[in-house]
Amino acid sequence: MSKLPKDFLWGASTSAYQVEGAWDTDGKGKSVQDVKTSFPQGVTDFKVASDHYNHFKEDVALMAEMGFKSYRFSISWTRILPNGVGEVNQKGIDFYNQLIDELLKYNIKPIVTIYHFDLPEILDNDGGWMNRKTIDAFEEFSRIIFENFGDRVEYFQTINEQNMMALVPAAILGVERAKTAKLKDIYQCNHHMFLASAKAYNLCHKIAPNAKIGPAPNITAIYPNSNKPEDFYAALNLSSLRNWFYLDLPVFGVYNKTAMNILKKIDAVFEIQPGDMDLLSNAKPDFIAFNYYTTATVKMPQDNEMVVGGDQQMGAKIPGFFEQVENNNLSKTQFGWEIDPYGFKNTLIEMYTRYNLPLLLTENGLGAYDELTPDGKVHDQYRIEFYQKHFKYMIEAVEEGVDLIGYNPWSAIDLVSTHEGIKKRYGFIYVDRTEDDLKECKRYRKDSFYWYKKVIETNGEDISN
Ligand code: BG6
Repeated sequence: MSKLPKDFLWGASTSAYQVEGAWDTDGKGKSVQDVKTSFPQGVTDFKVASDHYNHFKEDVALMAEMGFKSYRFSISWTRILPNGVGEVNQKGIDFYNQLIDELLKYNIKPIVTIYHFDLPEILDNDGGWMNRKTIDAFEEFSRIIFENFGDRVEYFQTINEQNMMALVPAAILGVERAKTAKLKDIYQCNHHMFLASAKAYNLCHKIAPNAKIGPAPNITAIYPNSNKPEDFYAALNLSSLRNWFYLDLPVFGVYNKTAMNILKKIDAVFEIQPGDMDLLSNAKPDFIAFNYYTTATVKMPQDNEMVVGGDQQMGAKIPGFFEQVENNNLSKTQFGWEIDPYGFKNTLIEMYTRYNLPLLLTENGLGAYDELTPDGKVHDQYRIEFYQKHFKYMIEAVEEGVDLIGYNPWSAIDLVSTHEGIKKRYGFIYVDRTEDDLKECKRYRKDSFYWYKKVIETNGEDISN
């Protein structure tokens, strides 16, 4: 007997700018990702990506072949609203209608992220998330999404990894503003994102009463580096600032006190206008969507150097509060991220104990240099092993009472990494292109494709090779 619920949402994820391509097709406006120029040498931009815009029927058919019950994708803001607000691009609406209908044809439930890192350039030029007008623009964008797709989409999530964006200033502030911005500005943007999400929760409940909506942070257990009491204090601090700050507010309607204390000490307290807290405490999510890649380990810093930015999973440090360090008990991916399957269980249990809301995993996965063999195969046994280990602990967490409603790892299909190009592959489906040669973006089934199909067929009972 499977230990997972019978309607468990097995699937996988993508995001619009990393998979769709067609960056200026059919009336789409430009997002900050389309105009990005800060790619390291030899790393591709997002203009063609996996060309999913032109291959979506084939891609959905492959997802159906794997037996997907759900598919989590994001809506490109500028495909729907080329100018961020105002005139709606019907061709953009048509694309997502076709995608949603194609998924439903195979009984795959769409899980829609409203916003995944691709702010319209025009809004960015006008102050981005620093400007409260962006909250209204997000509300308008959300309304259009609920009105057009809310009849068929059961699960919405608001802003992907708001907490990771706050850890990487260029992501939340925009590249130019991040060069001179103060820490306070980061948390001002963050506050505005919370307000935008709160408006979306309320709108969703009004316009699409049968749908559910939740936040989508990247949550992870935080370990103290030793049993020194001060290292435990460091772990409490990073947990509060990175995790609970992002869930206490939507779920309990309050800003986490420990996180606020840190912000006070580093002069990052943001402005809260009259009425903001009313809105925030009266808008409620129905479930928690979250991404999990790895855990973090911290100690008390010994000096006064502050570290922000860099890679989302590594290296944060705030003097007097925490310093992220390597965990020698864990192995690493080819791209340096620690691998912690047991930590997945720890994360699930800790989060569920705190919030008692259904959880939906919307990213987890292994970025690797996959190789296409001359006979069209990709032998990614390392990815299968990564998942096998995570599933073991995920199932244990469910047996221990965690209400996990689905697992949608990153990514359904190969796509372009946030900053490491197409060579960092995550998919069950290989896309044949390189950083500089787009070829035909032909699709191939990896070994993990066949393995995941079996896992889904048995509802997680058979995770063996
Ligand atoms: C998550 C993001 O943070 O991690 C995705 O939501 C991203 O957009 C994924 O692609 C993996 O990160 P990276 O840097 O390897 O692409």
